[in-house]
Amino acid sequence: MEFKGQHILTSKQFDKASLLELFKTAADMESIIAKVGQTDLLKGKVMASLFFEPSTRTRFSFETAMHRLGGSVVMNFDMINSSSLTKLETLYDTGKVVSQMVDVIVARHVEKGGVVSIADGSDVPVINAGDGPGEHPTQGLLDLYTIWKEKGRLDGLTVGMVGDLKYGRVPHSQLQLLSHFDVKFVLISPEALKMPSEFSEMVEALESEDFEAHIGDMDVISMTRVQKERFDDAEEYNKYADAYILDAELMKKAKSDAIVLHPLPRVKEIAQDVDDDERAKYFDQVKNGVAVRMALLLKVLS
Ligand code: NCD
Repeated sequence: MEFKGQHILTSKQFDKASLLELFKTAADMESIIAKVGQTDLLKGKVMASLFFEPSTRTRFSFETAMHRLGGSVVMNFDMINSSSLTKLETLYDTGKVVSQMVDVIVARHVEKGGVVSIADGSDVPVINAGDGPGEHPTQGLLDLYTIWKEKGRLDGLTVGMVGDLKYGRVPHSQLQLLSHFDVKFVLISPEALKMPSEFSEMVEALESEDFEAHIGDMDVISMTRVQKERFDDAEEYNKYADAYILDAELMKKAKSDAIVLHPLPRVKEIAQDVDDDERAKYFDQVKNGVAVRMALLLKVLS
């Protein structure tokens, strides 16, 4: 795939070669961070950070990435309440206007399709930082990078995805990116929160509600929270909130060289007693995310 000048909106854009190319650049970025902290590779470039939905990691991660590349960032921390959308400006127009000022836009929106509307208007590349219950391609990229780094490969692994696979945009992006590799998928969710068929049909997957029965087969245990904000009904959410809890006791059944991923924020699905387990990689993922986003910004902008 071509990165330069492109919108990055869906995981469908990536192929195996472009993923491996991106991961090599991300590894270079990691050594730059470790050695000097900052470069001037994107000096003079400006990124707008447009988040119409809460975020801690993803926004900080993109903004840190841009700073470490020597570029600048403009943002409004409260787009929902204080942007021109309150004056009924369309997302298309917001994209058009902001793109006259900056070189790249990173956008998150509460509705599936919101980021695409911003991109439709924009004259500069737009990177999807989370599109309602749709996709979150850069989280998927950093998840795969973490697996590649930790396991040395993506082929030949059994990847378990556990939790809210219906509303979780991270599993949607992860599955599509992993579909380029020889991966066995084990999809664990309550029946009502199954992976949508548009994604599960892309791969051969074992689907089950029983985490404990399958945890021992997984090389990668990819946990996600039940996406409370996507439920209309609090009672319905409460039914599933505690469906899967990974704790130190359950980790005894996992492979000795398995890795545990989580995009965070976590609620109860990973107990804090797992944090000290050397197989827990969810805080490493956060670090890796900056390097991956640096690599992506670099490829899109230069
Ligand atoms: C995820 C997201 O926003 O989709 N978080 C993140 O970007 N690190 C996962 C989630 O909110 O559950």
